Order: sequence, then structure tokens, then C-alpha cells
Amino acid sequence: MGNRIFDLDRYAKKAREAAAEGIVMLKNDNHLLPLAKDTKVALFGRTQFHYYKSGTGSGGLVNTKYVIGIWEALEMEKCFAVNKTVKAVYEDWLLEHPFETGDGWAKEPWFQEEMPLKAEFVEEARKESDVAIIVIGRTAGEDKDNKAEDGSYLLTKEERDMLNKVCAVFERTIVVLNVGNIIDMKWVNEVNPSSVLYVWQGGQEGGHGIIDVLNGTVTPSGRLTDTIASDITDYPSTANYGDDDRNLYKEDIYVGYRYFETFAKDKVLYPFGFGLSYTAFDKELVGMEAEEDKVTFQVKVTNTGEYEGKEVVQIYCQAPQGKLGKPARVLCGFTKTKLLTPEDDTIVTISCPKYFLASYDDSGVTGHRYSYVMEEGSYQFYMGGDVREASRVGEIVLDTLTVLETFEEVIAPDVSYQRMRPAAGENGALTISYEAVPVRTVDPMKRRGENLPVEVAYTGDQGWKLVDVFEGKVSMETFIAQLSDEDLCCIVRGEGMCSPKVTPGTASAFGAVTESLEGFGIPLGCCADGPSGIRMDSGSLAFAMPNGTCLACSFNEELLQELYEFEGMELRMNHIDTLLGPGMNLHRNPMNGRNFEYFSEDPLLTGRMAAAQLKGMHKYGVTGTIKHFICNNQEHRRNDAEAIVSERALRELYLRGFEIAVKEGDAYSIMSTYGPVNGFWTSTNYDLLTTVLRKEWGFKGIVMTDWWAKGNEPGGPGDVKNTSAMVRCQNDLYMVTTDAKANTQQDDSMEGLINNRTTRGEFQRSAMNICYALMKLPAFLRVQGIETELDRQLKECITEEEMELRDIKILEVEGEAEIPLEWIDTRKGKATVLQVVLKGKNTARLTFLSRVTGAEELSQIPVSIFKDKQLVKTVTLTGKDSEWKEVSLDLGEFFGNTCFLKLYFGQGGMELKECKIEQI
Ligand code: BGC
Repeated sequence: MGNRIFDLDRYAKKAREAAAEGIVMLKNDNHLLPLAKDTKVALFGRTQFHYYKSGTGSGGLVNTKYVIGIWEALEMEKCFAVNKTVKAVYEDWLLEHPFETGDGWAKEPWFQEEMPLKAEFVEEARKESDVAIIVIGRTAGEDKDNKAEDGSYLLTKEERDMLNKVCAVFERTIVVLNVGNIIDMKWVNEVNPSSVLYVWQGGQEGGHGIIDVLNGTVTPSGRLTDTIASDITDYPSTANYGDDDRNLYKEDIYVGYRYFETFAKDKVLYPFGFGLSYTAFDKELVGMEAEEDKVTFQVKVTNTGEYEGKEVVQIYCQAPQGKLGKPARVLCGFTKTKLLTPEDDTIVTISCPKYFLASYDDSGVTGHRYSYVMEEGSYQFYMGGDVREASRVGEIVLDTLTVLETFEEVIAPDVSYQRMRPAAGENGALTISYEAVPVRTVDPMKRRGENLPVEVAYTGDQGWKLVDVFEGKVSMETFIAQLSDEDLCCIVRGEGMCSPKVTPGTASAFGAVTESLEGFGIPLGCCADGPSGIRMDSGSLAFAMPNGTCLACSFNEELLQELYEFEGMELRMNHIDTLLGPGMNLHRNPMNGRNFEYFSEDPLLTGRMAAAQLKGMHKYGVTGTIKHFICNNQEHRRNDAEAIVSERALRELYLRGFEIAVKEGDAYSIMSTYGPVNGFWTSTNYDLLTTVLRKEWGFKGIVMTDWWAKGNEPGGPGDVKNTSAMVRCQNDLYMVTTDAKANTQQDDSMEGLINNRTTRGEFQRSAMNICYALMKLPAFLRVQGIETELDRQLKECITEEEMELRDIKILEVEGEAEIPLEWIDTRKGKATVLQVVLKGKNTARLTFLSRVTGAEELSQIPVSIFKDKQLVKTVTLTGKDSEWKEVSLDLGEFFGNTCFLKLYFGQGGMELKECKIEQI
């Protein structure tokens, strides 16, 4: 087992390491933690039994073999002398108050009802136990934002009551926050627990990570990737968040610590980069070198404490205020040390490209409009363990302004508003002032008109296959010239969800979605969610990762890369070419329902974390689709609410992470967003997808829409049908149609092509982008029938049980279709999964005849029928049912036109016949 290329145990070990390294310890009075192995502990809070491995939606729907929550880990590690009475009381209560799952997509409650505590109960518990561990949980997910309300960003009354009562009685208390991203923390000062840990949502190995930190196997080394302010209203974006139609990003570049360190230090409870350790580190600058394009720091880190541990070293820059105005601190480099034993030391090197020290002049105030500039003056560098603690270690002084690079006006807002900027206040302090945001002066569509790709004349099928391009026998242009208008309109359509053409239960197929395209030897690529691991709605199992915030809090690029090598192998084994992740939007405001999928309020950290994941996956020839490009910063009205953002803020913040992922992580697949930014839905934003992404950054790859996302013609309303405008801007793929050829979405591609609103050359360009990307992916090997040594080795690692789960038969139903009896294994413990694809009508019924023969009269023989993992019905026959009995089940409406049907036989002995699905 140990020599296998893909080893689940090693995968789990790496994930456990990542879950533990992401844990951020905010408080640890009197060194309460780590706890000795025999410490008498009592656990409070129902989340101890319902660990949240992730949030919900596409960033959470991974079917896992197991999830190690807090209790599972405690039992496996045989840790601590746990108070059984308290546990039993909770277990009893839970029988009456089961976990509420809610009612479908985005309907799961963000919190669960907490067990009310009686003072006497807590006092009794204290008599038996020395330490109390209080677990608080929250989920989150797409399509629903967090709210500054009880049970979401704020604690519920019962949770507060629990904290108050337990902390009043126990002198030693540890609060464990199993949450997606930061929550309100005012209660810490009020109830004063001894220790507080953000454990986030740590994936299927999360519970292990928590116990490893509690018992000291791992010294915490996670750091906050967001600033925790005293109150939600302290975040400068809060006042301009959550609008139905339009959000003005008035705080501009002053997001997170860039705002707090510049204007409102006293509003911070826990600064960006903060996190405690069991040990202590001494950090000393031992070298600093300013070169042409970067400044490099060498820092000696010594473990001066009593535990082994890792330290995060962060470098911040304070640029001169100049004419542009600058944040007081900007993270320009970071690293994490290896594990240091007490007294051990190491020297780490951190390089800070000057590009990250520069500011973007979108108004021309420096005389260099549309340029990254370093204004003259002193650039002070600060080094430390968090933004507040970082102390000055050096400076570089520029006598004159330096222009690093000049671009052109792109994605500028078409609405004028006042944005935040610093002004000189009293005693050298900075105060908030406002200035007008420069508005758009250039029509991006004019730019498109001036840069139209050359059209290659249609040749019809000349017999060239895509492999001929790969082998250099023919140019891509000559190959693409063979594609008819219909081919071109089809290739820009992805098919899904759950296309029967690719791995069952995945998000989409793209490329050869029609027979004609297949005939040209174009591969069929497969995409699957998502940021927390592979989502296969067929019920197939995959590994659930710690959430994005948790991973980023590790500040450990190497670890993320190693972890995502496993993800890469897993994708390849499942014939999935690109993972729809990582999610990398900035945490502009704690209310964003998808923050848990994303990394941080800081773009450098975000970009580096994404690049690390991509490097890991690239090692195995698959990739990630970085998302959501750009500004997916609120879920409320996510298809329509517009973000209005200055060019400076876009470039310095919201684009920057993606830029790093493209330039450092070689990203070649991107997902645009649902909503509009500065007048254009992102799928139809020419400057975003062509000028910036491809021309400036040199991106060579594909852009796909988010699922059923809209686009717009300039000035027009958003609509899913606007694929012609999408192609014009190089959003190459519309995701998703149920049938590309039938054009089930009824898009306007053909009409746009015929009327030359979008040129043939533009369609050909997107077709080429798709083909180039597919040529890099395993799909290209699959279409040629090539099995590499790697694929062979990976195949050997698939267990028999997994193989069975993957063996999903496809039943196409037009009117009615029989399920072949040989597909159904009725033996005890066996499951049959089939994918039912309806042609036309979208509702169906399942009927079959069943009987039991040769069993004891009183034996009970059940078959459970699940539709998309939801139990439809369990039909139980007894030994007396020896005559054929008809079972008829209404399967209701299908999502898209497909569903996964599972028949599970809890006991052997049942016979079936005349199994059929009919459309109703
Ligand atoms: C999400 C995407 C996801 C897609 C496919 C959408 O709802 O916004 O992030 O990848 O669905 O599941």
C-alpha cells in the first residue's frame, strides 16, 4: 500500500497537517493550552457532535468516505478524560433536537439550535472536570450572505448564555470556533475565556487537526487572513454592501488592514496576520538587498520557547503618501519556516517585487496616468508576525518618481462617486478624506473593433485532427478553418450539470460536445467543483479539503502545493480535467456568504495560495479553474447586483490575486462571475477578459462563465442568451446547456455570427482557446486512447468498492425505457446507481414488480430508492410476499434533465422484473 502513487492515508495525513496549520489561536491565558493527555475536560455546544467540514453549495458538496469531527478524533486519539455525564445529557437532548438540514440549495440554516444550559448542570460538570471546551459552529454557502444577526455573524442568545454560564463556573475555558470565516468577537472581552481558537472548517480530517493542536502534537502556527474589527460597522465596506442593484466601492483600496492600519487602529480586536503559538520566536533581519526590480530580506528565526513550532514571517511596506495617498501598510512578502525545535534557528529569504510596492495612478495626479508608479520618498519596511506587531527593519529611498509600467484605461467605472483617500491630520496622523473617482473615457468596444482577430476562411472538413496540430503537421488556424458555423456555435457551449458524456455527477463537459466536433479529434474535457474537493453528485466519493480560509491561514505555500498534488491525482483518476477552484475573491466584507471558500482580505496572500494549489495540480497534468473573475463579493442578488469599483482598486486589489495566479501559478482556466462590474457583466467585459487578462498578463487559456450566468450587449440588460457578446470578449465557454447541439439555452450565437455582431474570427479565436487548453489536459490523451504509466498506476489505486461506485449506467428515456435487469445487483448490501437522462419532458416515474422467494415468513427484505442522494422510499417486503407486487414511485421533477437513481438492497432475497422509467 505504502508504495502506491495515490495513497489515501498519505492524503489524509497531509490534509490533517493542513487543517492543524490553519488553526489560529487568538488567546491562551496562562498557557492553558496545550492540554495534558489526562486533563479532565467537559465539552459544551452541540457542534462537538456535528462538525462542519465545509460550507454548503458548490464549495461544500463532496461525498466523503468519512468525516473526522471533534468526537471522532477524541475517541481515536484517546485524548483527555472526557466528562461522560455532560456528553450523555447532550446526546439525549440531540435525540429531540436533531441537526436541521434545511430544505435544499442555500436553505440550510447557518446555525443550529443550542442546548440551553442550567447553572446547576454546569456546576456539576465543573465538579468532575477541570477544563471546559465550548464548541460553536456556523456554516455558510453560495446564494445567501451572512447577516449581522444572531445565528449568523453574531452569536445566538443561547450561545451567549452558554459562554456566560460555562465561563462563570470554569476557571479554565477553551472556545473552539468551527466556522467558515470570521464572526463577531466582542464576546471575548465580555466572557473572557482562557483560550480561543478559530479552527474554521477543516475538511474531512478537521477534527484530527483540532485535537492535534489541543493536545500539543502540533503547535498552532496559523495566522488571521482578515482583520477582526470590534464591530461589523467598523469595516469600511459595510456601509456600501448588500445593495439590490449597485454597490459603490467607496472604501477603494482601503480594504481590511489597509484601512484599519491607516485610519482606525483602535477599532481592531485582532490584526491581520495575528495568531499565537505555544512557543516563542525571535526574528532578526540579517540581510536586505534592494535590486532593480525587487527588495530581498533575509530573516533569522530562532525558536526561543519550549515547544517545536513553525513561524510565519511577514514583510509590510509603508510607501510615501505622495500625491496618490497610500495605505499605512501593504503586505509585500511572507513565508513560513520549517518546523523548528527549541533553540533551533533558520534563515528565510523573502523577495518583494517592486511591482507590489507600486501604486496605480488612475487619475493622472502624478503625471503618469494609467501607470504603476513608485512616488519619490522613503519606502519603509516592517517585519513581524502580524501587521500591528511588525517593526521597522529598513527602507529604500527614491529621489524621483519611478514609472514601472504604463497601461491603458481599462474597466473604469461609468459612474462618478467619491472614494476614500488619506489626508494629513493632526500630529502626523492620517484622516479620511474623499476624492472623485475617475470615470470611463474610452469605449472598450471601440478597442475591440480595432483589435479584431483575423478570420480564417472556412474550408470544410479536410481530414485534419487536433492531434495533427499537436504534432506540428498543421497550424491551429488551418485546423479551426474546418469548423462550420454550427461547430463554432456548439464548441462555445458547455454541457451540464451531470452531463452523461463525462464523469457522472460533475459540473460540465466541454470541447467535443457534438458528434461533429468529436469527428475532428477534439477531446471532451470535464470540469467538477470545487474549492473543498471533488463534487460528484452521482454519490461517488472524494476527499474533502479544509476550506479556503483555513488553508490560507496556514500561510504555507509548500504545504498547499503538496496537498493539491493529491487533489491533482484524484482528479486525474476520476477523469476530471479541471477543478472549479480555487475560489479567490477577496474578503471585502465579512458578510459575503462565500468567504469560506475564499482565502483572505489580502491579494498577495490570495494569489500565492491559489498559485500553490495550481502548481500542485499541474504536477499531474490537470488544472484548477480559478474563480470568480472578478468581484464576486456578495451573494445577495448575485446575478444582477453591480460592483462599481475604481481602476486603482481593481488593479491593486481585486485583479491582483488573479494576476499572481496567472503569472506565478500558470493558471489557464478562469471562471467569470455572475454579476456585473462597472457596466458590464463580467462574461462580456472586453477589457477584463481580453485587454487585461490576455494582453497584459499573457494569459493563454479558457474563460468560462459561472453556471447559467448572464452577459450583456453594451448598455443592455444581462441575459443568459447573450453568448455572442461573451465570445466577442473572449469568454470562451458558456456554462451550461443541457444539449449543446439542440441549443437548449436558445442562445444568440448563430444570430450574432450571421449578422456579424460577433465575427467568425472571434468565434474561431475562442474555439482555438478551447482547443489549446484541451491539448494540455488529460482529455487529450483520453481522446487518443493513450494510457500513460501515470494513469495506469493511478488506476491500480482505485479500490474495488470505488470501482463499483463509479460503474454508473446511463439510461436515456424518451417516453419510457426499461432498466435492463442485468444492471441491478439485488444481493445483500449491493447498490446499483444509474444516471437517468430524460429527453423532453422533465418529470418521471419508476415502476417495477418485486417479490421475495425462499425466505422465512417474517424476514424483512428492503430496497431503498434514492434520487440524487435523497431517499424517495424504502420498500420492504417480507417472506410472505412471494407474489409479484407492483411498486410505482413518482420521481418528481429532474434538475436539468438528469438524475442519479440508486437502488440499495439492505438484505438479499428480493427479485425484480419489469423495471422501467416513464416520463409523466
Ligand atoms: C457556483 C460556481 C460553481 C458552479 C458549478 C455555481 O453555482 O457559483 O462556483 O463552480 O455553480 O457548480
